[in-house]
Amino acid sequence: MKVVNNHKINKICCIGAGYVGGPTMVVFADNCPHINFHVVDINKEKIKLWNNEDLNKLPVYEPGLAKLVKKCRGKNLFFSSEIENNISTSDMIFISVNTPTKIKGVGAGKASNLIYVEECARQVAKYAKNHTIVVEKSTLPVRTAEVIKTILKEAQYSSDKKFNKPTFDILSNPEFLSEGSAINDLNSPDRVLIGGENEEAINHLSEIYANWVPRERILHTNIWSSELAKLTSNAFLAQRISSINSIAALCESTGADIREVSRAIGSDKRIGSKFLESGPGFGGSCFKKDILNLVYLSNHFGLPEVADFWEGVVQLNSWHQHRISKLIVQKLFGTISGKRITVLGFAFKANTNDTRESAAIQICKDLLEEGAELIIHDPIVDKEQIKFDLDNDKFIPTSVENLQKNFSYEGSYTFTNKIDSIFDNSHAVVILTEWEEYSNINWSSIAKKMKKPAWIFDSRLIVDTKKVQEANLQLWRIGDGT
Ligand code: NAD
Ligand code: UGA
Repeated sequence: MKVVNNHKINKICCIGAGYVGGPTMVVFADNCPHINFHVVDINKEKIKLWNNEDLNKLPVYEPGLAKLVKKCRGKNLFFSSEIENNISTSDMIFISVNTPTKIKGVGAGKASNLIYVEECARQVAKYAKNHTIVVEKSTLPVRTAEVIKTILKEAQYSSDKKFNKPTFDILSNPEFLSEGSAINDLNSPDRVLIGGENEEAINHLSEIYANWVPRERILHTNIWSSELAKLTSNAFLAQRISSINSIAALCESTGADIREVSRAIGSDKRIGSKFLESGPGFGGSCFKKDILNLVYLSNHFGLPEVADFWEGVVQLNSWHQHRISKLIVQKLFGTISGKRITVLGFAFKANTNDTRESAAIQICKDLLEEGAELIIHDPIVDKEQIKFDLDNDKFIPTSVENLQKNFSYEGSYTFTNKIDSIFDNSHAVVILTEWEEYSNINWSSIAKKMKKPAWIFDSRLIVDTKKVQEANLQLWRIGDGT
């Protein structure tokens, strides 16, 4: 593809104002005051929230985000639904739309649904003028750039303009931020990965990052390595969690303590200490979908053994979540029908309002199927979201057979953002998200309100064991066989 020399980047458009597009462009705008950033989305409600005067209403909760939005919004950062106009006047376009797992058709349950990415490419093809650098920010299966390229190429041939026909370069620039620490991750990334064919386009994007990222951390690769590195990175991280959770189960049976095991193995520099915390199973919108995508690709390329290896990581995670639900039922004398259970935390991790694939969804569904009366608390997640997650039958299946499965509950649930009086007459408290406020609970006063024998199930290892035991409460902690 043709490259226009001395192409200067003055205006950037990001398609998709979600958990990645929003915070990423906020940090870009803060670090590059000389460039204008326009974040666009088809979801008008979301855009309204991004433009809300009340910064508590931003659609993404992320520590430090509101402060930066306040600083940049209306100066060099704009949120709107004006997709066409912003595409045609931008020098660089980030595609940051969702890439969920397909739920029907070929590859259902594993392959990525690229419909949103494809739609973006068509919009860019239709409205772009002059030379435009298109950046894949979404996590995409290997060789997606080829699809985007084909769609954009068509635009060049079919454009009715004689002059100023659009020309394009395509780059892969996957995002590695973690929710809850996104601002810090974006400001000080371990690395920035830029994959592409055209050196000049790669340099344009590198120059933007170089405004705040040390150059030695900006890695250049070919486009396919960049796409595959993103999937692999998430697969490796998720694999560590499944590994440690499998050992947690073994600890509970053998008298070992998972924290001691984690510390012992993590002290080996070759293994490293991060991502070795046992919990209720990994959640979040990406780990499961990206591994399933890797599984699909491996099978597609005739590597079933590779596919099976990675699928095991997702299967272990699912088994682990059900293991926790079963264990709760067992400890409460084999039945929880009609029993009140307090659930602390619904977000998939602390410091985010995101519940996608949260372990809490599966564990709550299991407990509801057993007939429990749940009182769910989360300091940030809202009621509508919990209703959507628990009442909606749509879920990402791990196998095609599961597509048919419908949930029906015997139990019921209520939700509150306030922590007072949620323990009254509860048989058990189940901690599923590691919100800081749950580490400071006054167990002795809570014990007085609960039905005896009362249980505390700590899947995040955050409670003070001594204080729970002194309050005469039964305690189960993940990976604690002592
Ligand atoms: P999201 O669902 O929060 O946001 C995607 C947004 O794109 C939505 O608001 C949707 O309305 C919008 N959209 C879809 N099609 C559109 C179109 N044609 N035009 C305009 N807007 C459109 O998703 P996300 O969590 O931000 O993830 C986006 C991508 O980034 C995914 O591929 C994901 O795998 C990847 N990723 C996510 C994270 C994370 O922490 N959430 C981290 C790294 C990478
Ligand atoms: C993850 C990756 O960490 C990011 O690098 C990546 O960009 C992102 O996915 C993505 O592509 O979406 P995220 O899902 O936001 O980020 O959060 P993580 O901190 O990775 O946590 C994922 C899940 O694993 C959470 O449920 C968390 O509680 C769990 N976890 C994490 C553990 O159970 N133990 C650990 O030691 C670490």
